Amino acid sequence: MHVPYPAATTLALLLLLITHAAASPSAGCGRAPTLTAPTPYTLTVNAKQRQYYVRLPADYDPSHAYKLIFTFHALGGQASQVVGGTGGYLPWYGLPALDGFPSRAIYVAPEGLNNGWGNAGGEDIAFVDAVLEALEADLCVDTAHRYATGFSYGAAMSYSVACSRGTSFRAVAALSGGPISGCEGGGDPVAYYGQHGISDQMLPIAMGRSMRDRFVANNGCAAAAGGQEEPPEPASGSGTHVRTEYKGCAYPVVWVAFDGDHTPQPVDAGATGTWAANETWAFFERFVQE
Ligand SMILES: *[C@@H]1O[C@H](CO)[C@@H](O)[C@H](O)[C@H]1NC(C)=O
Repeated sequence: MHVPYPAATTLALLLLLITHAAASPSAGCGRAPTLTAPTPYTLTVNAKQRQYYVRLPADYDPSHAYKLIFTFHALGGQASQVVGGTGGYLPWYGLPALDGFPSRAIYVAPEGLNNGWGNAGGEDIAFVDAVLEALEADLCVDTAHRYATGFSYGAAMSYSVACSRGTSFRAVAALSGGPISGCEGGGDPVAYYGQHGISDQMLPIAMGRSMRDRFVANNGCAAAAGGQEEPPEPASGSGTHVRTEYKGCAYPVVWVAFDGDHTPQPVDAGATGTWAANETWAFFERFVQE
């Protein structure tokens, strides 16, 4: 068998795969849930009040361990917009409309500080940790299936989660982000989906490419098309998107470049709806629960 990276790395990745394969029900499994309100819950983290919304499947079953998906808002945005599908977001980034039993998910929409994810001193990662602790004590989560997504600053935060909590998150989907929430750690292989507009005026696509390339490297992927070249990107004015799956990765890495600016919901020319939610859900759905 051809081994493209050192044997020690292979062994470490194999152990990770084994760790990830088994379902890991959280302490909240079997309990009557209390985190069922449409209103936000509050936690104190580093002496600051932090809020988060929770969305359960309508037919929530405390004996079923669900995927858990963090949905981070953008700069200037609010968790309530992610929840309500206002301010340019689809509700919960459009994912609950696509998920389905047995891979339905529990969603959490955390509120940033000052409408963003500056993550000063790691305080937003500490908030994620606190949400996980509270939520998984109350709800039935498969702790081998934690995910994160978001647009812009929310993508930055998803990337930061992949950097800092790569051993406890299964995959992230970063929509038009930049590395502006930091990347503490940053060495673990994590499944990574990135999408970015070629003419992004807010966070240039080079930022998205550099975030992607960290996880291309961490996952030991071969280059996109077998050589060293960059994944193809659509021409300006083409009104299209181009999806590339990297080859030979420990965990999957997908890159979608689209003809457009800074938007969470790009739409191809002539299409009526965005492909972004579909691609994100298709990526998260690949990780089948055992
Ligand atoms: C996204 O998925 C939904 C549900 O399957 C489908 O109706 C819609 O056409 C898809 N949109 C795109 C742009 O692929």
